Amino acid sequence: MTTKLLVLVAGATGMLGTKIVSALLDKGNIDVRAMVRSINDGSAENRQKIEAMKAKGAAIAEGDLMKPETLLSVCDGVDVVVSAIGNNDVTVPGQKNLIDAAKQQGVKRFIPSDYSVDYRKLDYGDNDNLDKRKEVFDYLQLMGLEYTLVLNGAFMDIIAYMPLFDLEHQTFQYWGDGETPLDFTTTDDTAKYVAEAVSDPGLANTALEVAGDTLTPKQLKATYEEATGTKLTEKSLGSIAEMKAWIANKKASASSLDEYIYHQYMYAMVSGKGKLDRIQSDRYPHIKPKTVKQFLSKGDSV
Ligand SMILES: NC(=O)c1ccc[n+]([C@@H]2O[C@H](COP(=O)([O-])OP(=O)(O)OC[C@H]3O[C@@H](n4cnc5c(N)ncnc54)[C@H](OP(=O)(O)O)[C@@H]3O)[C@@H](O)[C@H]2O)c1
Repeated sequence: MTTKLLVLVAGATGMLGTKIVSALLDKGNIDVRAMVRSINDGSAENRQKIEAMKAKGAAIAEGDLMKPETLLSVCDGVDVVVSAIGNNDVTVPGQKNLIDAAKQQGVKRFIPSDYSVDYRKLDYGDNDNLDKRKEVFDYLQLMGLEYTLVLNGAFMDIIAYMPLFDLEHQTFQYWGDGETPLDFTTTDDTAKYVAEAVSDPGLANTALEVAGDTLTPKQLKATYEEATGTKLTEKSLGSIAEMKAWIANKKASASSLDEYIYHQYMYAMVSGKGKLDRIQSDRYPHIKPKTVKQFLSKGDSV
């Protein structure tokens, strides 16, 4: 009898984590342990998600990334840890605690909560949130735990909320020349790729880079117009150097990350600095990721 791979998903009640749990269970040959902070969660939404995961076949385990003492039992017997923790104060210390516990319990592979552009190519300071990815990745390598990074560019689901679109004024705006290719993948497709990455022997200590679509800003505008039937006015906001200066100025006086973080994400994309260079979306032929046109035509994001 062959034993099934046991995958722990941290952040299982999150937007992406819920989809990853589902995609792993859909494989049929993987046991899933979904880590939640509290089984009898105070929030009705989380309780509902936990019930749905249980009904689909996931085992539920309580653990809190900021309480390292809860993590050893959660990682006991686990083959692969998938983290889908959000971006906040927990991202770095919490994932470091999880890496420590995984290492102690002999976990074979760790997938950190990345799901982004290729932050390995960015410098510290380029993006305050992606700096946290860099820090966790540095720690993973330091600890010598086998890793797989899943890099998917920007989530297609939020495409119309990116600073490129000012839909209130029916305007499409961009920095640079509008010709730099940008990578997009839906959250559903990203979850499917994660479900493959957990057991792919060719992904030891490397990244799985995927994109449902790669479009320049100008192509994105045209695709949006074609898919939605809405014409947008095109507006150039300046050069990439001017964008960088705008972000630096904003950051110096900002009272919250929200005032500039989305522009930092855009900078990583429109500058080409965070571009995925080794996209292998066809690595698993049964996954046919959605294109931006397909996605927008369905009206999922707006
Ligand atoms: N590329 C892109 O365009 C893009 C866009 C959005 C997100 N992302 C990335 O995708 C990843 C997942 O994001 P998301 O939006 O799905 O996150 P999310 O919905 O905010 O979910 C975060 C999860 O982390 C859990 N969590 C928080 N603190 C915890 C703790 N101390 N112990 C255990 N669990 C804890 C939450 O549990 P509770 O339910 O109990 O709070 C929740 O399950 C992140 O890395 C994010 O940066 C990428």
